Amino acid sequence: MDQYSARRARLLTSSRPLPDVDVVGSSGPWLHLADGRRLFDGSSGLLCANVGQRSPEVFARIEDQFTRTTFAGAAVVRPHIQMELMDRLCQAVGRPGDAVALTTCGTLGVEVAIGLARNITRVRNGKRRADILTSDLSYHGNSALTLALAGNHARRPRPEDGLGLGPSFSAPYPPTHDHGDTGCDASCADEVARAIDIRGAEHVAAVLIEPVNGSTGGAYVPPPGYLRRVSEICRERDVLVIHDEVLTGLWRTGTPLASRHWDGAEPDMVILSKGLGGGYTGVGAVLVSPEIAPLIRHEDADPLPAMGTMATHPLQAAACLGVLDELEAINQTDLLARGRQLGAALRTMTDLPYVRDVRGLGHLYGVELAPGMLWPLMEACERRGVFLYPFTGAGSPKSEGIVVAPPLTSTQEDIDHLTTALSGAITALAIARTQRTASKDLLGHG
Ligand SMILES: Cc1ncc(COP(=O)(O)O)c(C=O)c1O
Repeated sequence: MDQYSARRARLLTSSRPLPDVDVVGSSGPWLHLADGRRLFDGSSGLLCANVGQRSPEVFARIEDQFTRTTFAGAAVVRPHIQMELMDRLCQAVGRPGDAVALTTCGTLGVEVAIGLARNITRVRNGKRRADILTSDLSYHGNSALTLALAGNHARRPRPEDGLGLGPSFSAPYPPTHDHGDTGCDASCADEVARAIDIRGAEHVAAVLIEPVNGSTGGAYVPPPGYLRRVSEICRERDVLVIHDEVLTGLWRTGTPLASRHWDGAEPDMVILSKGLGGGYTGVGAVLVSPEIAPLIRHEDADPLPAMGTMATHPLQAAACLGVLDELEAINQTDLLARGRQLGAALRTMTDLPYVRDVRGLGHLYGVELAPGMLWPLMEACERRGVFLYPFTGAGSPKSEGIVVAPPLTSTQEDIDHLTTALSGAITALAIARTQRTASKDLLGHG
């Protein structure tokens, strides 16, 4: 191994060898590479750099906060900027009366939401409430608990590491919920009812669900009425609904929360993360509805599970306020129009070789590919100036493809560059394969 490869192997962030995308700079949605090339960031980093990079607004917020306080532990003082963030965030997502727990990342947001849901249902519905039910097509973070609970077993391949936990119902999507000719519909929510009833509702604290699937299946969108039916089923059984909007929250799908695409789908609790920090800071936020939040302070309640040393850090809060400044400055009509155009351009690619399906909404799409095409296509896209994120998680045999999720601040020109590069890369791969087959045939006949 040469010195350069050895150095790359020391960074323990990816099972695959790191690609030769050596990022040394950035501007907005563009990455600048060491070799002088520019790549368009077609998946907002890890689906988080939603307002692009090096924003002057975000910088000004962090700089200003730096001159005031750089630490204020929210367990012992009343930290001004964190409270400002809480108010602003709740307004931004249309849940102005919610209580908020702030954390340092999405995984911890999920862990805190689990703890809060247990506390709330134990005060309200009895001390045995503990179970958290998830679907078989889900990802909720990389801690031992969240990996054990969720359905994405590509990230936790060994059953013996599952802490005796695991997903409890099928997500309403074809790779894991195949019912022949009839597609999934709202009645697939009956699986959630069955899962609760098998355990006994008196043991269940919450159903934890991604309202729109993120990077496990590649942007599956639930059938109309499904989320509403899940909420009704849970309400009938005194079980809370937690939406994991770590990836989808804050306009990624075109609305402040993905659940807003449907009526009657508002959850009891929401977890936000990636779009809130915008890639500028690690952060997670758990929003708890005003109907249940007072139970957290009830005299019978267990201690709050929400406090960590770096949770609600002032510089983190400042960065998030800057990201909200950026998000709220985006013209909503234009954002929706660009999202629709992106979706339309991607859907035309279902006519191209290797493309099995395109799904998604807003600025979040999954392009499912024929087996074996994912990594060659990612490389071909990079050669054409676009970086994209893979998904490899769903079904058996596993489906795979790319997540297309450009920053929300991308221009129409940027989006055109992305879709032109992607369709060009697919076509080039198909031509290369045809040529290889033809020359093999020629050799065979020669
Ligand atoms: C839906 C969902 N939940 C939770 C997480 C975990 O967030 P983090 O990586 O910030 O810990 C992710 C990350 O990809 C996610 O997509």
